[in-house]
Amino acid sequence: MSDEPFFLTWQAQAGGAATELRGGDGVWMDTGAGRVLDLGALVYQANAGHGHRRIVEAVKAQADALCLAPPNAVYPAKRALAEALLAKAPPGFSKVFFCLGGSDANENAMKIARMVTGRHKCVARYRSYHGATLGASTLSGDWRRAPIEPALPGVVHVMDLDEGVEGTQIPRVLALEEQVGAVFLESVVGANGVLIPPPGYYEAVRAACDAHGALWVADEVLVGFGRTGRYWGFEHWGATPDLISCGKALTGGYGTLGAVLVHERVARVFEEKVLACGLTHYAHPLGVAAALEALRVYDDEGLVAKAAALEAPLKAGLEGLAARVGEAAGAVRGIGALGYLGLDLDEAGLGRLRAALASKRVHVHVKGPRQLRGSGGALVVSPPLCITEAELDEGLGRVAEALDEVVG
Ligand SMILES: Cc1ncc(COP(=O)(O)O)c(C=O)c1O
Repeated sequence: MSDEPFFLTWQAQAGGAATELRGGDGVWMDTGAGRVLDLGALVYQANAGHGHRRIVEAVKAQADALCLAPPNAVYPAKRALAEALLAKAPPGFSKVFFCLGGSDANENAMKIARMVTGRHKCVARYRSYHGATLGASTLSGDWRRAPIEPALPGVVHVMDLDEGVEGTQIPRVLALEEQVGAVFLESVVGANGVLIPPPGYYEAVRAACDAHGALWVADEVLVGFGRTGRYWGFEHWGATPDLISCGKALTGGYGTLGAVLVHERVARVFEEKVLACGLTHYAHPLGVAAALEALRVYDDEGLVAKAAALEAPLKAGLEGLAARVGEAAGAVRGIGALGYLGLDLDEAGLGRLRAALASKRVHVHVKGPRQLRGSGGALVVSPPLCITEAELDEGLGRVAEALDEVVG
């Protein structure tokens, strides 16, 4: 067992260790092991950086004004947040369903799709993660599904975006499966390896969903709120989904909240039909206050444009790291402030790399063969969107030093 009285997530407990976190400022985290440069935005939620005073103050003010609210209460921040989210969604989105995070956003999107279409079947990609609740785990294609199987019936996975697979299998699978209610797709695949669909991909998905009566749910939990240099990841393509699930950076990490944004053509079904969804902490005031202020900060600080501007230096930096590690380098990919560097390292090598990165006091996501569904590993870089180019250089310099120790 680890020494802690709580479980550590996604790991066997023996030998596990928790990171002591004391606070932070901008791209810096204060940890028990000193100041760490955060090139991962924690687990992709800290888009506004650490210690953001405006968001902290907004949460405090909300706690003073109104801290408790039942699900169907209305208070100013709740209405303002729903309006702000719908203003950021494509035209025609008319309702928000509030959740606690990304997993239950997908869970509730699944339920909404079932109730609207009368169909329980879903399609998702093998190369995906959609969350840790039972339904969202079933949708997920990565290693985190197997431990809970047999999971929900009726979820079919497609090979889209896997190595060597061209285009999309979704039109054909929708035709063969018939009766599919919803297609769940991370707009850009995040934790499973920064997989960026080719041009025309979502246009083809949209057409197939329309042809077969399925709803397209864009999972924007990891990439929503600017990560890819657009507000929503799907905006890089010329098609819009029926539902958008989001979480993580919705609050910048300063509160617990997820949401499903629903197009009017779906929402209208529930004018007469009972919406059989709800949560005790639906739109909890502290999460809502954090989200409302986070959204304002993203606008006021121009963080989406900053993410777009980070794409070129981030990719160039990763190309530089690839050149440095020579034959151990795999693919380099990037979109906005989300970058990927493949590494031909085995589990032992990746373990040494994790230790070297910790000693250089830089946080990036290290992926192994389990997440990537194959051999080798990778680094995924996803800094807070407020990072300066100088800070990015410093962070990637630390990563270079760590790589030198392991590969050099
Ligand atoms: C694309 C995607 N969807 C859903 C989730 C689940 O979100 P949460 O962990 O907030 O429940 C995640 C979390 O990593 C994610 O990356």
